[in-house]
Amino acid sequence: MTQENADQALVDAGESRLPGGLAHVYPLGSRLGAGGRLEIGGCDALELAREFGTPAYVYAEDDMRERARATMAAFARRTESFEVLYASKAFPCTAAMRLFAEVGLGCDVASGGELHLALKGGFQPGRIYMHGNNKSERELEEALAAGVGHIVVDSFDEIERLERLAAGAAQRVLLRVTPGIEPDTHTSIRTGQADSKFGIPMAHVPRAIERCADAGLVLRGLHAHIGSQVYALDVYEALAEVLVQIGELPLLNMGGGFGIAYTRDDHPPTADDYAEAMLRGAPEGVTVLCEPGRSLVGNAGVSLYTVGTVKEIPGVRTYVSVDGGMADNIRPMLYGATYEADLAARFGDSTPCRIAGMHCESGDVLVREAALEDPSPGDVLVIPATGAYGHAMASNYNAVRRPPVIFCRGGDARVVVRRETYDDLTLRDR
Ligand code: LLP
Repeated sequence: MTQENADQALVDAGESRLPGGLAHVYPLGSRLGAGGRLEIGGCDALELAREFGTPAYVYAEDDMRERARATMAAFARRTESFEVLYASKAFPCTAAMRLFAEVGLGCDVASGGELHLALKGGFQPGRIYMHGNNKSERELEEALAAGVGHIVVDSFDEIERLERLAAGAAQRVLLRVTPGIEPDTHTSIRTGQADSKFGIPMAHVPRAIERCADAGLVLRGLHAHIGSQVYALDVYEALAEVLVQIGELPLLNMGGGFGIAYTRDDHPPTADDYAEAMLRGAPEGVTVLCEPGRSLVGNAGVSLYTVGTVKEIPGVRTYVSVDGGMADNIRPMLYGATYEADLAARFGDSTPCRIAGMHCESGDVLVREAALEDPSPGDVLVIPATGAYGHAMASNYNAVRRPPVIFCRGGDARVVVRRETYDDLTLRDR
């Protein structure tokens, strides 16, 4: 089933699609239920807000499963030799990791902490790939001790470190290279260009391959991740061409970066499109790996808030302030990211407004140009497509407690990460 067909099947099971072409932004299966109220994973958003409080990250479990399966199916239709890895940085939550491990994904971790979570989440160590442009000795030791399947070597210094730490243990590695390919995305999340802290420069790749062999490491393949939220497919074909020219190794890891829809006007390629683009340039017999994060979890999650104040500035604009903000979603501030917003009980757009957070700076804006249906204090406000890099990059700014993570499925909701308490805020004090 393609991602779109899967979407359709889940949506058809509901009563009505969401209005205004929003269906592809919200979790699969979302619908307006009784009284026009939003349901996520069969759960009424107002009841979720009442039961678990706000702000809260709410995920439709089936959405994550379906997208993981669809991504695997997209590759399986075209090749027998592939592996889909979950880039756990997008949503480093053990419950999500468990779900993806069960569906059959491998895992990409980028720190000792993510490795810890991946092991707790139930990934087989052999299915884990350890990334990072500056892994510490401690992190490398942890990876070796855990029996991580592959370490993605990023520099000559790291080859030396691994040579010493692995002490002839024939650790399997991939070599991360900098392919010199620039996708059209935000500069902060572009990584394929030559001027990058990541990977071995193309000119040094032959020497790095020799060094790996000298160091007793088993070089299994190449890795490159060119960027994130990449809509253009030609860059993946170009990447395959560049990597293949280096030489044939058993594994070819072309990274993640599959884009998602943040607003109704976004129409990203499907998992099928990405698989097709990656595989087009890959030679027969090579195992192609990809490591999507955002596309597996981004649209699965929404953020629920409660509207606190509605302030009209005559001749200027209306500010709708909610009980969260930059601490639970830094992406608007960091990347100028745009989002949709709706009132869970009243979808509509009668009132143009700006949605602001509760933090003590003017830049704390979640949606600059929004339109809500007559917003009032006490309304539950939902921002969709916050499932990736929301929880992951949350902070305690202003000593706010980080929100809980709620998984919804078939009308049942469960807390998989609880809300922080005030005591959590002093837990590390000495
Ligand atoms: N593989 C590697 C080596 C990566 O560095 C990344 C993301 C991924 C895979 C997964 O990329 P994805 O499929 O999620 O696009 N905080 C930013 C995103 C930073 C991504 C960093 N690396 C954001 O909120 O947009």
